[in-house]
Amino acid sequence: MASTTNWPEKVGILAIEVLFPSQYVDQTELEQFDGASAGKYTIGLGQAKMGFCSDREDVNSLCLTVVSRLLERHHIKHTEIGRLEVGTETIVDKSKSVKSVLMQLFADSGNTDIEGIDTTNACYGGTAALFNAVNWLESSSWDGRYALAVCADIAVYAKGAARPTGGAGAIAMLVGPNAPLVLERGLRATHMEHAYDFYKPDLSSEYPTVDGKLSIQCYLSALDTCYRLYRKKFEKVQPKESSAVSLDKFDAIIFHTPFCKLVQKSVGRLSFNDFLLTSEEKRAAKYPDLERFNNSTLEGTYFDRDLEKAFLTQSAEIFASKTKKSLLLANQVGNMYTPSVYSGLVSLLISEPPESLVDKRIAVFSYGSGLAASMYSIRVTSDAEKFKKFASQLDYVLPLLSSREKVSPEQFSQLMEVREKNNHAAPYTPTGKVGILFPGTYYLKDVDALHRRTYERTPTITNGVH
Ligand code: CAA
Repeated sequence: MASTTNWPEKVGILAIEVLFPSQYVDQTELEQFDGASAGKYTIGLGQAKMGFCSDREDVNSLCLTVVSRLLERHHIKHTEIGRLEVGTETIVDKSKSVKSVLMQLFADSGNTDIEGIDTTNACYGGTAALFNAVNWLESSSWDGRYALAVCADIAVYAKGAARPTGGAGAIAMLVGPNAPLVLERGLRATHMEHAYDFYKPDLSSEYPTVDGKLSIQCYLSALDTCYRLYRKKFEKVQPKESSAVSLDKFDAIIFHTPFCKLVQKSVGRLSFNDFLLTSEEKRAAKYPDLERFNNSTLEGTYFDRDLEKAFLTQSAEIFASKTKKSLLLANQVGNMYTPSVYSGLVSLLISEPPESLVDKRIAVFSYGSGLAASMYSIRVTSDAEKFKKFASQLDYVLPLLSSREKVSPEQFSQLMEVREKNNHAAPYTPTGKVGILFPGTYYLKDVDALHRRTYERTPTITNGVH
């Protein structure tokens, strides 16, 4: 077995790029259009706007755009990439990977020596891609180059209760040693099991089959299990950090975010876990007025309103200080599926002053229905200058977000119908407006009779970057 000292040091995220659609529908207007009660989507689910793509964009185009932008913005040569992993659940081809489509970007450089293909399990694929990239860096296969972990999805639901929890987006992460964001070694807790909570059995449709209530129960129970396992691993790996793990150990906590309200409830759920894991003698002092839950169990309380409310109140300050800022993009764009949890990371990075994150620990909870889930932690570098430079690379995000175009719910619904009718059509020429796309966006030009897809790019503004 190789000595741990032979591993590259501080493997993690060197650069991160986010992409979201250039158009959105307003959730208040969508409530009215759908005949839902006022406040159901905005307060009940916690969503303000939902980004969506016309038929001009598919998962390949999202990945082409986000990878190009990352390489351009960070001046990375195509020959410097030795592994590229894609996590997605938006399948346009049952055999040909999105990764193989991305190889077009590397053709001119002559670099075909790039390991990695696609990984699929609902919203978890992005985390699997990141773990695979990190594992490669920390293995005997590593050849000294960077890895890229890419995740992208178009999250669309049939008309009905789930539709307002859609969204779309992509994230690319450059992975390498001596990173500003380091994945802490030995601190990954995973829980996987068989469940039919959300799945896509109809290969001719983009829409999932979803059991909303079961999906929430699966999410919360995977959170419980991962958190308890993370605590155990932490105590084994970090015996010097003497006290038992509780939410106090984290400076920020980010989650896969199907809708923001579930994340707020998840912080309450973690607080309930801390309560149960605190000895009864200490509980009264730490958790005043909650003794009525002394005999409550995890299994019996997924939809216990009284308990949920009590721990939402108990954890309100933790949510406000450690999680709320990470929901910015989720609230403004919606569920991105695989990129969702990493859009949480971007949101945190653009919302906190960099100095306040230096040398801090960020807990990450990733969930994919079906199901696969992990909790792990990221350590921010203690090098303030390095981190400031890293964070400043995301200065484009807020201006880009506010430059999006609002579309009426009627138009949104029509564009969804166009996608629905033409999903897998061949030959096909998309009708969505190209002019509405951000500069430097790859889009689908056409699909020929043999289902071969061709892409073009909107002009970039400066230095090849929007
Ligand atoms: N004002 C304020 N709040 C209101 C309201 C109003 N006028 N009307 C309703 N609400 C509240 C409800 O009380 C409820 O909140 P609580 O649960 O806190 O009580 C909330 O709004 C939602 O209302 P419903 O529960 O009635 O909503 P629904 O059953 O019609 O649909 C959903 C909600 C099940 C989440 C549905 O949108 C869905 O199926 N979404 C897709 C599945 C999903 O996102 N699952 C999450 C976990 S799975 C996962 O994480 C993987 C993934 O990405 C998909």
